[in-house]
Amino acid sequence: MAKPIREGNGPRHVAVIMDGNGRWARQRGRPRLFGHHAGAKRIRELVEACPDLGVRYLTIFAFSTENWKRTQTEVAGLMSLFRRYIAKETRALREENVRVRFIGDRVRLDSKLISLMDEMETITEHCDGVNLTVALNYGGRDEVARATRRLAQDVAAGKLCPDSVNEETLPKYLDTYVLPDPDLVIRTSGEARISNFLLWQSAYAEYEFVDTLWPDFSAEEFGRLTKAFGLRDRRYGAVRA
Ligand code: FPP
Repeated sequence: MAKPIREGNGPRHVAVIMDGNGRWARQRGRPRLFGHHAGAKRIRELVEACPDLGVRYLTIFAFSTENWKRTQTEVAGLMSLFRRYIAKETRALREENVRVRFIGDRVRLDSKLISLMDEMETITEHCDGVNLTVALNYGGRDEVARATRRLAQDVAAGKLCPDSVNEETLPKYLDTYVLPDPDLVIRTSGEARISNFLLWQSAYAEYEFVDTLWPDFSAEEFGRLTKAFGLRDRRYGAVRA
């Protein structure tokens, strides 16, 4: 049963870099894909925790433009996991009133995966609860480059005047154009870097780097981090009055 989203002073949009699946599997003497499968199981729990925490938008980093450098076995295993995940979760997410979107460049993805992504977006497009955005073959620099290419095409076609390109117009060309900027970015597994994730959008985000490996990240820890966010003093470059 879908829950209403509780409004509060927590983050409205949380973005998550789900890191540490490989190490989690290694600690158990299992192949890396075992860790990715365990990681996929955590997503639903987080989505279900969002309404009570006041999180209306959840964006997760599933596959980066750099992840193609992994072994062919791991890449193929991840693609197969994405296909299976989408096929299995679409109806359940719709029941929970979750709207799913994908960001990233689809050109390198296989046609079966693309049609499953399209179907998931269509089946959930009337849902107005939590907005789950999955970044798949996503890179922040790649996104800005693709946006700039489309913007330049509009300028060349006379649809956009160069003088009107500013901080409001450029984001309209980004994959995230319908989403608000993230308020909080969480990265698991103890690495303190942003790895090309939502570069433009996270200019004023708060960051939380936690040691937990992604498959061990719980709704409880998610709740603690979102509550800690509510206590932060966000000034956006201004001085408090
Ligand atoms: C990073 O851990 C994780 C990934 C590159 C893949 C993220 C994918 C999932 C959580 C599962 C599936 C997602 C969906 C949407 C179904 P790592 O492999 O870099 O871990 P390591 O740093 O310990 O090696």
